[in-house]
Amino acid sequence: MKGVEKFGALDIYVLQGDTDLVSRVSRCFNRVDVNVIPIDDLTVAPAATAARAAVAVIAMSAVGSSAATLAQCQRASVMPVIWVGELDASGERAPRADLHVLPSAFTCAALGGTIAKLTARAHAHESDTPRASPFIAHSECMRALLHEVDMFADCDTNVLIRGETGVGKERVAKLLHTKHSRRSQGAFVAVNCGAIPDGLFESHFFGHAKGAFTGAVSAHEGYFERADRGTLFLDEIGDLPLHQQVKLLRVLEDGAVTRVGSAVPMCVNLRVLAATNKDLPRLVAAGMFRADLYYRLAVIEMYVPSLQERGSGEKIGIFRSVIGSLFGEELLATLPDLPSWLTDAVANMRFPGNVRELRNLAERIGVTVKQMRAWDPQRLQALLAQVQKTQAALWLGSPEHPRWDMADRTRVLDALATNGWRRQDTAQYLGISRKVLWEKMRKYHISDTERVRA
Ligand SMILES: Nc1ncnc2c1ncn2[C@@H]1O[C@H](COP(=O)(O)OP(=O)(O)OP(=O)(O)O)[C@@H](O)[C@H]1O
Ligand SMILES: [Mg+2]
Repeated sequence: MKGVEKFGALDIYVLQGDTDLVSRVSRCFNRVDVNVIPIDDLTVAPAATAARAAVAVIAMSAVGSSAATLAQCQRASVMPVIWVGELDASGERAPRADLHVLPSAFTCAALGGTIAKLTARAHAHESDTPRASPFIAHSECMRALLHEVDMFADCDTNVLIRGETGVGKERVAKLLHTKHSRRSQGAFVAVNCGAIPDGLFESHFFGHAKGAFTGAVSAHEGYFERADRGTLFLDEIGDLPLHQQVKLLRVLEDGAVTRVGSAVPMCVNLRVLAATNKDLPRLVAAGMFRADLYYRLAVIEMYVPSLQERGSGEKIGIFRSVIGSLFGEELLATLPDLPSWLTDAVANMRFPGNVRELRNLAERIGVTVKQMRAWDPQRLQALLAQVQKTQAALWLGSPEHPRWDMADRTRVLDALATNGWRRQDTAQYLGISRKVLWEKMRKYHISDTERVRA
């Protein structure tokens, strides 16, 4: 969608009130590293992290439309807020510059532009500190991956890390960096290759000398220099346009960079880790990715399995760990263990957004349980149903997935409701076999948690 491709990983928390804001926002984003998360309460949404920006989009109908009310709500938020609706400006002397308001009939481009402005963030971040959350690897395939990490960490060979979105490719890259005895002393510089504006590639990667162009008031180190003696992590490498690929290749071959506006080349000592969720050999075959760059980056290839491949034990392990980290000792001691209906529901859910999506769900459930101090089935099932509805909206918005026949989905849902969600009766009612009904429910992401909506 136009206007919304400018930023990297992003969480959009949506408080929709009585509007259909969640699905409208979801439809604006085809990018997989953008999560649209429905919330009921602005104060429970977690703040942005170093790796992910966060923004709230709130329907005015949920809180009120006077500027004073909005400003007051906004102060309670830990992240920038975009208000959707018609501002009631009567009684206000001047429009408030601190409120970002979109009309109810906003376009995706306007939404994207406002988000980009509010989340204006560097395209790269440096970090030497490991993330607080533990890296969970219970399944056999993940243990095998950790074994590979151990084997290849302490060498300087470039590694290409492949895997679906949200599986933990950046976490694996960080592990490779921190386990490297020498390089872990240097910086880990992560660059989102899909978010580098054309025309700024050189100054971002090579840096620039003072006065190199209008506005270059001081000299600036590029990513290559910052990662010197450390690790350069090229995230979303499959999104790097061809004309930028050739510039990257030259540095990887020569090991030297020259700042824009300078004539003096500098040698850099880099280990390059790259990650992608795309099929690079296919891009190479299609002429969209340079073969020479591919071979240089993929000296070693590592594959991070999807959550589905890891099995339900891993899903529950991650879910449990995130929830446990949210609860204090006292709550952990007083609350009964995770109920089996909840672990079963999580085990049976599919997570196209992989670990990231599962973590988000676990955080939302954890925060809710913390507030209620109980595993309230009604509340939590409603939350699960809401998540599945969003998954469905995202699925619908994605060009990579076949469009659902919404009329058929509604027909199946109605039939289930009419027949008390009994599969046999519903199948008979629709004149199809139980197997076909089951397939339709799977395809349309319909599960028992949807009952709560009714
Ligand atoms: N094995 C794991 N244990 C615990 N948390 C994990 C694990 N793997 C990933 N995560 C968490 O899941 C989220 C996504 O991880 P990460 O950013 O590394 O994925 P990615 O594959 O790089 O995603 P993308 O394709 O969107 O760039 C992060 O919050 C990360 O901390
Ligand atoms: Mg990543």
